[in-house]
Amino acid sequence: MKFTLKIWRQENATSKGRIKTYHLDGVDQDMSFLEMLDVLNAELIDKGEEPVAFDHDCREGICGTCSLQINGEPHGPERLTTTCQLHMRRFKDGDTIVVEPFRANAFPIIKDLVIDRSSFDRIQQAGGYVSVNTLGNTIDANTIPVNHHDAEESFNNATCIGCGACVAVCKNASAVLFVSAKVSQFALLPQGRVEAMDRVIKMVEQMDVEGFGSCSNTGACEVVCPKGITLLSIARINREYLKAKLKG
Ligand code: SF4
Ligand code: FES
Repeated sequence: MKFTLKIWRQENATSKGRIKTYHLDGVDQDMSFLEMLDVLNAELIDKGEEPVAFDHDCREGICGTCSLQINGEPHGPERLTTTCQLHMRRFKDGDTIVVEPFRANAFPIIKDLVIDRSSFDRIQQAGGYVSVNTLGNTIDANTIPVNHHDAEESFNNATCIGCGACVAVCKNASAVLFVSAKVSQFALLPQGRVEAMDRVIKMVEQMDVEGFGSCSNTGACEVVCPKGITLLSIARINREYLKAKLKG
């Protein structure tokens, strides 16, 4: 397959970026999108040019680092799929593909397609944890019974990989789907209820400090989320937040 790639190139955080066009031939249809970029970079290096910087780690859809805006869609055209799990057979031979970084004020560009998502880490550090006493013997995981539905729902929310696609697609650059998944993961379990009120307030406050926008219930976030986190989680965080505020 051959492609025309229009890729955002930006030297560093302060320089002005621009779209640069590349022509790539000999791409195998079973290559992943990142493998296709590897091929491009090998060619660029051979020509003595600067390779395209892009984030990746697991290449298995579990780490959340491979966030690219492909033809205007976070993670590209395949639903429930991260960029690293997207394959070139999803495109047509001869296609032009535009590749940009996720764009949001709270995700500043570091270089080319690499963005700084440490704002998500700070939200997580504000309350996305359960405090446990780690002295002594490990507590048996099954000491507190959890009903099946809540366990499943908590697990589904825990699959959020913090990729930021929900922010990138949102016209307000809201991070509420991400935060709602992190809050829900704990709110549904008895172990997480102990700090639930404190957690939701602190995480929402930190989200505002980081400069993410407000949710206006457009729903684009759940469409692009590669892990299928739904608006039900946003409804839950709203209830949790209201409850915490009312109880002071
Ligand atoms: S909610 Fe979905 S889109 Fe948002 S960070 Fe988590 S996995 Fe990514
Ligand atoms: S590289 Fe880890 S999710 Fe894509």
